[in-house]
Amino acid sequence: MKILITGANGMLGSTLTEQLLKTNHKILGTGKGILRCNHLIFNEISSYATLDILNPNDIEDTVAKFQPDAIIHAAAMTQVDDCEQNKELCSRINTVASKQLMAAAQKCGASFYYISTDFVFSGEDGPYKETDKTGPINFYGKSKLQTEEALKESGMNWCIIRTVLLYGKTDHINRSNFIYWVRDNLLAKKPIKVVDDQIRTPTYIPDLVAGIIKAVELQARGIYHISGSDTLTPYEMSIQVADYLNLDKQLISPVDASTFTQVGRRPQKTGFYINKAIQDLGYQPTEFNKALKIIFE
Ligand SMILES: NC(=O)c1ccc[n+]([C@@H]2O[C@H](COP(=O)([O-])OP(=O)(O)OC[C@H]3O[C@@H](n4cnc5c(N)ncnc54)[C@H](OP(=O)(O)O)[C@@H]3O)[C@@H](O)[C@H]2O)c1
Repeated sequence: MKILITGANGMLGSTLTEQLLKTNHKILGTGKGILRCNHLIFNEISSYATLDILNPNDIEDTVAKFQPDAIIHAAAMTQVDDCEQNKELCSRINTVASKQLMAAAQKCGASFYYISTDFVFSGEDGPYKETDKTGPINFYGKSKLQTEEALKESGMNWCIIRTVLLYGKTDHINRSNFIYWVRDNLLAKKPIKVVDDQIRTPTYIPDLVAGIIKAVELQARGIYHISGSDTLTPYEMSIQVADYLNLDKQLISPVDASTFTQVGRRPQKTGFYINKAIQDLGYQPTEFNKALKIIFE
């Protein structure tokens, strides 16, 4: 298959591209600027191209030239507070550009795999299954939901893969994520306050990547929830990190989300039921404590 990925420099997109390069598929990894992930070794059939999705002509040209069978759309404006403070830009990236990419995909008959989020839900009544009612409480969630809705009405071959709080090895992209933040603060003996009234099913990035690749290869359609299977608060996650690394957990204080003044509201209780992905895609989540072992070994 010919597979085009957006957001190949990102936390998810870089691991996704790395794993797809190990398959027999022909890959076009794309990102906003130059390729920043030195660990991505493109082979004789695959390559990287700069594609700023804010430029509709570039979208049209790149897709028409590559003629993908599938597009995996992982690029997005992902920082919740930035989205809240700059709604216009968030809308342009997460909704308008996504629709332009969908139109280009439709023109060449490519299937569209859209990476979405638990933030399309309100967080009042999680964990959620695929058929549950959406109701985002921040602009980021709204912008992602608008693209989901456009896809459903598009008449094209689509699959929405929603996921929750990603974690994994990200040192190769020079980016931190929650578990590194905990480790680094505890190593520096800095006290940290961690939210204990938000519930998630955190997702180990390689698990999600395997699920996405399976969905593409099986030409899965409809909505899939792909996340971890452990239900944890960020505080509980941080305690497990401290325990695993033998660091001082006395430095970690549990707090309510109301302790922080964040412009973008976070849903309180999300997390997913993942039975559909397990059944249809053979999805197998790694337990949180086992994933920590792989990450830090
Ligand atoms: N991280 C999570 O916990 C989480 C949870 C649920 C769902 N998701 C979803 O998963 C997907 C991947 O998220 P992530 O955590 O990997 O995010 P990320 O690391 O922020 O990656 C997003 C990528 O999108 C790219 N991008 C932004 N604007 C662009 C533009 N105009 N043109 C082309 N590329 C652009 C960014 O490029 P630059 O790096 O060059 O800025 C970045 O590489 C997103 O769709 C997100 O909504 C993430």
